[in-house]
Amino acid sequence: MNQSSGRSDPKQVVEQGYDRVAHDYARLEGEAAWPRLRWLRKLLDRLEPGSSVLDLGCGSGDPADIEIAKAHNVTGVDISQTQIDLARQNLPAGRFLHADAGSVQFPAASFDAVVSFYSLEHLPRQEHEALLRRIHDWLRPGGFLLFSMEADDIEEIVAPWLGVPMFMSCFDPETMKRLVVGAGFELVETAIESQVEQAHDIPYLWLLARKTPGSVRGSLSVSIRDLPPVHVAYIEYKANAEQSDMHNEISECFRRVQAWLTERGHDPMIQLTIGAITMADGQLSSYECCVQVSDQEQSGSGGVGVKDLLGGRYAVVSIEKDPRIIGESIGRFYQEYVPQHNLQVDGLRPTYEVYHERTMEYCVPIL
Ligand SMILES: C[S@@+](CC[C@H](N)C(=O)[O-])C[C@H]1O[C@@H](n2cnc3c(N)ncnc32)[C@H](O)[C@@H]1O
Repeated sequence: MNQSSGRSDPKQVVEQGYDRVAHDYARLEGEAAWPRLRWLRKLLDRLEPGSSVLDLGCGSGDPADIEIAKAHNVTGVDISQTQIDLARQNLPAGRFLHADAGSVQFPAASFDAVVSFYSLEHLPRQEHEALLRRIHDWLRPGGFLLFSMEADDIEEIVAPWLGVPMFMSCFDPETMKRLVVGAGFELVETAIESQVEQAHDIPYLWLLARKTPGSVRGSLSVSIRDLPPVHVAYIEYKANAEQSDMHNEISECFRRVQAWLTERGHDPMIQLTIGAITMADGQLSSYECCVQVSDQEQSGSGGVGVKDLLGGRYAVVSIEKDPRIIGESIGRFYQEYVPQHNLQVDGLRPTYEVYHERTMEYCVPIL
C-alpha cells in the first residue's frame, strides 16, 4: 500500500470504499482459503446452541455469519450499506444494522460472543481500547471475543486497495493483546497467520479471548483488572454537610472541565470521563471530576488542575447507567461479591467511576 495523507474522514473513506468494492472483496478469498472458518470453529465449539453472536464489520455475512446462524442468532453491524444489503440477502433470518462499530450501542450483557474478522483495522486505533471495553460490557460473563486484524503497527494510512482509497490503522499485536487483557478478558488462544491476498502474503493477528466469569447473579458483572494510570484535567468537588444539591454541583464541575478542554481545541466527548471518589469515615469527602487529556497537557489554569490518576489492581463492576440499578449493583457488589470472593478493598486508593455513553464502570481498588 502506498502511504498518503489521511486527512479525509476515515469513516467516510471506509464506508464509501466498501460500498464500491463489496462485490470485488467477496471474490478475493477465491484465490486461497482464509483461516476464518477454522478459527470460527474454535469459538462455535464453545457456545451453547441458540447463543447470541454479534459480528462487527460483518460485510456480506458470507461465510462467517451463514456458518454461525446454523446454530445461533446473529446480529451483524457494518458501516457500508451495500455490505448490509448483501448480508440481508445472504441471511434473511439475521439482524443486520447499518452502523459504525465505533459508536453503535447495545445493552450490557446482551451477547454470548462477539466476532470481528478483518475489520478492526478500518477503525482509527485510538478507538480500539474503548471499543474493546464496550464489547466487554455487551458480553455476558464468560462470553467470548474472537477477532482477526492485520498484524502491523500503523498509526493511519489511506492507500489504494481494490481500486478505491482505503483507511487502515492498527496497533502491533502485543499492544493489541495488552488492550484486550486490560479490557477485562483472559486470552484463550492467539496466533499470527498469513493469508494470500492479491498474490501477497498478509499476516493477521487471530485472537480468541473470554470475558472473565465474575457475575454473582442477574446483570452484576465484575472483572479484576490492572488499570493503567490516566492523565487527566480535573476539578475537585469537596463534600460538606450543607451542600444540598451535590449531583448538580458535580455535573457543573464536569461541564467546567469539558469547557476548559474545548477552549484548548480538544474534543472532551472522545476522552474518558472519570469521577475519583475519596471517602473519610464512611462519608464522601471529595469527588474529583476528571476528563482524560494527552500527556502533553502539563499544567492547568482557571481552577482546573492536571495530574495522573493512579492505576493498579481494581475490581471493575460494569453497570448500565440506569439510576434504578446503579445503587443496587454497587450495594450487591459490597454485600455479596466482596465477601464471596474474599476481596480486600484498599482504603488508601480512590474508587473510580468511569462513564461511557450507556454504561459506567465502578472501579474499587483491591489489595
Ligand atoms: C475486510 S471486510 C470484512 C468483512 C467480513 N467480516 C469478512 O470476514 O469477510 C471489512 C468490513 O468491515 C466494515 N467496516 C469497516 N469499518 C467499520 C466500522 N467502523 N463499523 C462497521 N463496519 C466497518 C467494512 O464496511 C467491511 O464490510
